[in-house]
Amino acid sequence: MKAILLAGGTGSRLRPLTIHTPKPIVPIFNRPFLHYQIDLIKKVPEIDEIILSLNYQPQRIEEILGDGSALGVTMRYVVEPAPLGTAGAVKYASGNLAESVVVFNGDVLTQIDLAAVIRLHRQREARATIVLTPVENPSAYGLVETDPEGNVRRFVEKPGADRITTNHINAGIYVLEPDSFDRIPSDVPWSIERSYFPSLVERGDTFVAYTYDGYWIDIGTPEKYTQVHRDIMDGRYATAPFLNLPAPRISVAPDARIEDGATVEGPCFIDEGVLIKSGARIGPYSVIGRQTQVDEDASIEGAIVWPNCRVGREASVHNAIMGQHCHLGRNVRVADGTVLGDRTTLTDYTHT
Ligand code: GDD
Ligand code: MG
Repeated sequence: MKAILLAGGTGSRLRPLTIHTPKPIVPIFNRPFLHYQIDLIKKVPEIDEIILSLNYQPQRIEEILGDGSALGVTMRYVVEPAPLGTAGAVKYASGNLAESVVVFNGDVLTQIDLAAVIRLHRQREARATIVLTPVENPSAYGLVETDPEGNVRRFVEKPGADRITTNHINAGIYVLEPDSFDRIPSDVPWSIERSYFPSLVERGDTFVAYTYDGYWIDIGTPEKYTQVHRDIMDGRYATAPFLNLPAPRISVAPDARIEDGATVEGPCFIDEGVLIKSGARIGPYSVIGRQTQVDEDASIEGAIVWPNCRVGREASVHNAIMGQHCHLGRNVRVADGTVLGDRTTLTDYTHT
């Protein structure tokens, strides 16, 4: 069985972070996002190949993930000649596959039991099975209405606030039968959410829902990208290095240097080669990427700092995200919610 990961979007809501780092490989702590998704897929031995459906900056993604052998999986890349939309991409990537295929949106993190979803798909002899999850703000997602037997009765992508009829949304994980792909045209962009799923409902195909109410998040906005780090630091999503890490849940790479007189408060993450100078404060929910230097009396809290940055003396970065190779001068203040693109330089005393 194959899994297709849809990883061809431009990640526009995560700009400027995704200008040089496509969303599928943005770091979550010190690992590219897709590593976490691949870990989940690996739990299903029946899946013998992962097909990455790419479009935006495919070479950057291939460079980072290689042939999958370092992760213990077999991986192949399919690059669309032009963006084909979510359905077009699935059809293009599936080639002439005949067997059921698992499809993942390349930006969702979850601990779902994928094997159980595949089992349900088979038991029900479904044409398509979709994972649903309850969320607080459904309007940013695909809304899915079901009947008491768990059949999908309606699929509405991102409806206006006045058309919300359920809080169960499309979690971006499907098992599909390729013999239903004939309704997807080959050469124009086609949406799985706006066209393919509604067509299953219209034609009365067996379209089954699997409801999951465990951990699930779409990392596609700066708020959600930050949230996923908090969730891992708080243990809501269990993974290294925070798995079973005792309070105060401070993860520091062995070669990071924290000078005497610096303060580090958990939960937080300090990666390889980091230098925290005397008087600096690393507050809760900070993530300091590899080789970053935090100078005397600087303060970082609730912020995600990508590798190779320099945070100058007395600078403060609270609840913000910094791309790689940023340079903050002395006494710079980065306002809450700011996202700095790679190589941003803020000169001494700049307040954003
Ligand atoms: N190959 C390829 N080609 N991939 C694409 C394309 C394309 O043309 N367009 C989007 N993708 C990929 C994105 O990279 C992403 O991984 C996935 O498809 C979904 O696209 P998003 O842009 O992240 O969509 P969304 O988050 O607004 O909505 C989707 O996900 C929600 C769950 O997170 C929809 O599937 C919603 O129905 C769903 O609720
Ligand atoms: Mg998304």
